Amino acid sequence: MGRLDNKVAVITGAASGMGRSTAIRFAGEGAAVVVADLNEEGGSSTVRQCKENGGRAVFQKVDVAVEADVQALIARAVGEFGRLDITFNNAGLIGAVGPLEEITAESWDRTHAILLRGVFFGIKYSIPEMRKAGGGSIISTASMAGMQGGFGPTIYSAAKAGVINLTYCAAVELGKDRIRVNCICPGGINTPIGGATSERSERALAEAQPIRRAGQPEDIANAALFLAGDESEWITGTAMLVDGGFMARARSFARFSSDEWSGSVGFVGPSFQLR
Ligand SMILES: NC(=O)c1ccc[n+]([C@@H]2O[C@H](COP(=O)([O-])OP(=O)(O)OC[C@H]3O[C@@H](n4cnc5c(N)ncnc54)[C@H](O)[C@@H]3O)[C@@H](O)[C@H]2O)c1
Repeated sequence: MGRLDNKVAVITGAASGMGRSTAIRFAGEGAAVVVADLNEEGGSSTVRQCKENGGRAVFQKVDVAVEADVQALIARAVGEFGRLDITFNNAGLIGAVGPLEEITAESWDRTHAILLRGVFFGIKYSIPEMRKAGGGSIISTASMAGMQGGFGPTIYSAAKAGVINLTYCAAVELGKDRIRVNCICPGGINTPIGGATSERSERALAEAQPIRRAGQPEDIANAALFLAGDESEWITGTAMLVDGGFMARARSFARFSSDEWSGSVGFVGPSFQLR
């Protein structure tokens, strides 16, 4: 028996990275999956892999920034598989980069249209179908960069902070309908989001947090599976960090890495005695 038997899931950004990994995982757990992305070739490959993993899947080309596309995506899920239980708003990119004074309004708007407005559309059009189904689970991919400054490009980080608060507000509004709304805040995951993955990127990511390995798309798929399934039925309005402990250290030590102190055993401070 699969953990998502008889459930229907929509996953955006499923042609690559964490979205693809989640689609394959969900399909293997019994869900019928609508693989949505701008990238048709990658999307078709994900569909193939979902089927190889024993599941049902179809591809729908979508730009999540376009309202009619997202509306059509939800309609496709219901038309193809009869209902909607899970929406994973995951599509994303880096978007605007550079110093603030050089970022254009167009670049700000496009970044937010994909990373934040796209999530709003995904939530908006899932609601009526999930109500009909008696409830559902909406998951979005935010980022640890949405929780603090300095971990991602500025405009990206602002949009991800918006995803986190949209999650909280939607969870409050939709709890009465048994529609759960959560987001995942990944740390450094080795996906092609910033360019092709490599051994170098894998090594750099492995050094970044207390658990000394790079995050993998499968780590996010595992979290999404938990949030999608009935095991999390009393969990809503969470921003779940999946970061190998990065933020646990960042919050307490920020620039002063605890590694500095881990090599010796003793007693350090008070500070005036250290001068
Ligand atoms: N990789 C990381 O370290 C990391 C960390 C935190 C959060 N994230 C977030 O995770 C999510 C998935 O990213 P990933 O790392 O798997 O990257 P990825 O590039 O492998 O996958 C992102 C997918 O989104 C698709 N996409 C981009 N714009 C789209 C649009 N307008 N409409 C539809 N599809 C679109 C891309 O084609 C791609 O297939 C993103 O929201 C990203 O911001 C990534």
